[in-house]
Order: sequence, then C-alpha cells, then structure tokens
Amino acid sequence: MRRKVVAGNWKMNMTDPEAVELAKALRDNLRSIDNLELVVCPPFTSLSSLSGILAGSNIGLGAQNLFWESSGAYTGEVSAEMLLSVGCKYVIIGHSERRQYFGEGNQSVNRKVKTAIERGLTPIVCVGERLEQREAGKTEAVVEDHVRGAFEGLSSEEVRKAVIAYEPVWAIGTGKTATPEQANEVHLFIRELIKKLYDADLSSRMRILYGGSVKPENARSLIEQPELDGFLVGGASLKVESFAAIAKEVEGKRPE
Ligand code: PGA
Repeated sequence: MRRKVVAGNWKMNMTDPEAVELAKALRDNLRSIDNLELVVCPPFTSLSSLSGILAGSNIGLGAQNLFWESSGAYTGEVSAEMLLSVGCKYVIIGHSERRQYFGEGNQSVNRKVKTAIERGLTPIVCVGERLEQREAGKTEAVVEDHVRGAFEGLSSEEVRKAVIAYEPVWAIGTGKTATPEQANEVHLFIRELIKKLYDADLSSRMRILYGGSVKPENARSLIEQPELDGFLVGGASLKVESFAAIAKEVEGKRPE
C-alpha cells in the first residue's frame, strides 16, 4: 500500500514568528496522526526555526526549491547540503510558479531532482498543464513532457525516491479544483507512463499527490479516487484548522 502524503506549500508567506506559531499549532493538532506522511514547506527563512519545533514530531520539514551546486558563488541560492543541515527531508521541485516566474524548465528541474535524490532529500516533483493547454487537448502531452524531463537519466531505483505532485496550473490558487475524476484520469496516465518508462513495480509504488485549491470541503471526494495518494496544499496549508482538517480527511480514508 502506498503511504499517503499531505504536504503544505507555504509559498512566500509567513514571517518567522508567524511560521513558528503555525508550526507549533500544527504539531499539537496533528499529534495523533500516524498513518500519513505530513510535511510542511515554509520559506527558507524559517527552516531553521521549524526544525527545532518539529524535531521528534510526525511532521517532516521540506523546502520549496534548491540549487544543484553544493556551495560557492551563487548569490541568492540554497544548496541541498544547507537544507539537510537544518533538518529538511523533502524539497518541492518544478512548481508551476517557479516555471512561470523564474524561468525554470525541464533541464533545471532535472538537475535539481537529481541533486535532491543524490543527497538523500525526497523531491516532490510538480507537473501539470496550464488552462490553454488543457483546452487544446494537450494535458497528457504536457504532463508526459514534465515527467520525462524531470526524471531523465535517472534509474528506477532513483526515481523510486521521488514523489510526484500533479498540479493543474488552472486550479492553483484559483478556487477551481479539478473534479475528482479529472484528477484521477491524469494520475492514472502518470502511473501508466511510469510503467512504460520504468517498470510495473515502481509504477504501483509511486506516490502521486494532487494539488490545486485543495480544501477541507473537497479533500474527501478527491482522496477517494484510487490513484490519488495525498495532496500538496497551498492556501489551505496556511491555517491550522484547514490543513489539519485536510490531513484528517486523508487519514480517515485508508487506515493502515
Ligand atoms: P493552492 O496551491 O492549494 O493554493 O491552489 C497549491 C500549490 O500551488 O501547491
């Protein structure tokens, strides 16, 4: 059985004191959950503070990006080694906002995914189509290109260490969620693609999260779909009530 993941992507939100307060509330509120992987991804500026707060808890710490070099003259960048040194276990890679605003493409996503896996961080690799691509019937082509691009040159053993997040760009922060069936269809497509590119075993083990306007109100109908293995949550991860409610919906679905 695939262990479900509920990850919060805080994006560029939360000053350090705010992040500390939210992390403490989440830690206390989610204490009883033991059949899920819970993850929060605050901005870089709060990783260090949160590492102490979440140490020994059931919530893992993730970053929102990394750079592939270990150290050096790369102003503004943060390396895998730095993330590991503050207790990170996960890193979001290739989020559509990075693709849209910071010019990230398959090549840099691929280098980052490789770096994360080599250094022992779990990459949460984001893939997904924009609205005009969906309307033009290109959803599968775009998703395939993102998946192939992200994992190019990696072995099945390496890809096994990653988590994929399917995030239709038109559903991110817009209040428009993919219907459970729409999401499931793309998740199934990704799973089949992994089988084609690698093997059936990896395909059946790969965790594929959904992201895009996930809220307590729609979490249950989404997670009931067989191919969804959890969520990458943006807006609703910024409040303890909504993130905890989503985690509890996912927990309720398939206890181990
Ligand atoms: P959202 O963001 O939940 O606010 O739509 C999801 C994401 O971008 O990861």
